[in-house]
Amino acid sequence: MRKQIAAANWKMNLTYQQAERLLDEILQEKIALGPDQQVLFAVPFPYLVLAKSEVDEVHGYAIAAQNAYSKVNGAYTGEVSVEMLQSIGIKYCILGHSERREYFNESNEQLARKVELCLEYGIQPLFCCGEALAIREAGTENAYVQRQIEESLFQLSDEQVRQVIIAYEPIWAIGTGKTASAQQAQEMHAHIRSVLAGKWGKETADAVPILYGGSVKAGNAAELFASPDVDGGLVGGAALVAQDFVQIIKALK
Ligand code: G3H
Repeated sequence: MRKQIAAANWKMNLTYQQAERLLDEILQEKIALGPDQQVLFAVPFPYLVLAKSEVDEVHGYAIAAQNAYSKVNGAYTGEVSVEMLQSIGIKYCILGHSERREYFNESNEQLARKVELCLEYGIQPLFCCGEALAIREAGTENAYVQRQIEESLFQLSDEQVRQVIIAYEPIWAIGTGKTASAQQAQEMHAHIRSVLAGKWGKETADAVPILYGGSVKAGNAAELFASPDVDGGLVGGAALVAQDFVQIIKALK
């Protein structure tokens, strides 16, 4: 069975003290994870080392970065490299979140480079894709998401793509309280899997976890995660409340 993942994306929230408390409250629950279950916390850069030291001994828990730059190193003031993440033992990194695409103009081509770099340095990308409301209303969301995947992932080998985690996040559902229905999520996830199968074959497509993101809450996680092609969630707002995220972890298949 492929990994089932509850990933918290803290975005640009929480002070150091609040972050420490939130992590402690969740870890105190000592939720026993199954062998195929994984919990990730994508925390702001300054908290990576602290957060990693807190989860290092806990089975099934790991820390992710929220972004990394598309160059190995050099004169890029303010950026953080994949090599830096590797050097502190980070094994996961969100790439191409719609907020990065919108506010920082990240393109599919730049993301292709970031994905390659992460894989080169042994870091699993959580590659985000998803359409804006206008695209869904025009009925072209399948083609749009397919293009994001083609332009950022299709250069990868079979072995490489098996290290990628995909997160489908319809932009109209992010932070809006408007969740995609379980059926809408399943339909898009099945489409994404068929795109992967078309390129790398069914066996590889079946090995890639596809997470849903966009107003996942304690109250809707179980229904969303129950769909056959939904392998967990990438959670923003609800991941900032310990008891809510605990419920979301418990909703994993
Ligand atoms: O990365 C997480 C997503 O952007 C979802 O955020 O759960 O606050 O809607 P949200």
